[in-house]
Amino acid sequence: MKIMVVGGGGREHTIIKKLKENKTISQIFALPGNGGMAKDATCVDIAATDLDGIVKFAGENKVDYAVVAPDDPLVLGCVDRLNEIGIPCFGPKANAAIIEGSKAFAKDLMKKYNIPTAGYEIFTDIDKALDYVKTAPIPTVIKADGLALGKGVIIAQTREEAIEAVTDMMANAKFGKSGSTVVVEEFLTGPEVSVLAFTDGNVVKPMVSSMDHKRAGDNDTGLNTGGMGTIAPNPYYTQDIAKECMETIFLPTIRAMNAEGRTFKGCLYFGLMLTPNGPKVIEYNCRFGDPETQVVLPLLESDLLTIMQATTNGTLAETEVKFSDKHACCVVTASAGYPLSYQKGFEITMTEEAEAKTYVAGAKLENGKLLTSGGRVTGTTAVADTLPEAIKEAYRLADGVCFQNAYRRSDIGQRGLAAYQ
Ligand code: AMP
Ligand code: GLY
Repeated sequence: MKIMVVGGGGREHTIIKKLKENKTISQIFALPGNGGMAKDATCVDIAATDLDGIVKFAGENKVDYAVVAPDDPLVLGCVDRLNEIGIPCFGPKANAAIIEGSKAFAKDLMKKYNIPTAGYEIFTDIDKALDYVKTAPIPTVIKADGLALGKGVIIAQTREEAIEAVTDMMANAKFGKSGSTVVVEEFLTGPEVSVLAFTDGNVVKPMVSSMDHKRAGDNDTGLNTGGMGTIAPNPYYTQDIAKECMETIFLPTIRAMNAEGRTFKGCLYFGLMLTPNGPKVIEYNCRFGDPETQVVLPLLESDLLTIMQATTNGTLAETEVKFSDKHACCVVTASAGYPLSYQKGFEITMTEEAEAKTYVAGAKLENGKLLTSGGRVTGTTAVADTLPEAIKEAYRLADGVCFQNAYRRSDIGQRGLAAYQ
């Protein structure tokens, strides 16, 4: 079988390494992939948003199955386009990917179908938005409607910050078109949990829960990033809470999407907050999370391709989705300065044992050398019987990933450990 994976980060490298365990796969193409995954896939220099290029390549190379991993091609309709030429895909069509593509859509869906989430108002008129935040309870949360690389969320701690955020998004187009509509949300508190779930539009099979570490600095300080590390499972996510989430959030969401004529197939990511009033949805993503995938898939014991095909074919009910009861920890090594400005082009070296457990995100091959090319460069994952062992081993292995100006948080997993105590 020939598989095509659209995307080029650590998440895609993790998916590819997991798919490779299936021996019926003869070739994996990564579009565009990156230099760090060249040993695991044939990287093809076609951007993940170049739908014409992707469709042409898939047709010419007789791809049997495609995995569309990032949000932008999904929202742009990559799955619809590939289906048109007869290629089955893992991932939602555009009319379902809107659950991530428009926060206003997601909020209205939750309101209509009684799915617990933060209270909110949606604005397309800046004056009305400004009037609202002038009296809204503080802190308040301001979100750009569309995709904004995870950066379109401002937690305003003062009224001035709230006014500034609304002005930046709506008048100064700080997040481009995605900020012309804004959602102003009630500020919620409680531990955050990421739950990724496979769904064929009918059945939902959640994966092991995880915890992201979004801030750049230790003790959750500094700017928001794409994620500096993850652990799985998330200690706050007990079996009772999982059951409650299935009944009040996961199944209602799948049913709501069906009722709207927007059947969702693929991986639906639930960003949850466990508030004093029960679990609530902070955000939906229409895809695997990054770097959640780097801890979730290493714990998957069942065959990934079989599950993915079951989501496409509607046979998830009879397909095994089994996770190990071990613990995983992923430590991201970034370029110092990320998420603001940082230098690129430094040579990356990895010990053999580190390389075996490392997923590469921001790197390119040049004259046989692997060079840094992005903010988040690698994610190194260890799996162990206990969380403390997984953390210790992930850091030991990550120490084997070296390049100039490398930066890691030193406390990935500590919040999780505290939760067990
Ligand atoms: P997002 O990009 O939607 O994942 O939001 C980034 C982060 O902002 C989340 O991980 C939360 O920590 C925080 N956040 C988003 N919405 C809220 C909310 N309503 N209340 C409190 N924190 C929030
Ligand atoms: N780690 C958060 C995300 O993938 O959106």
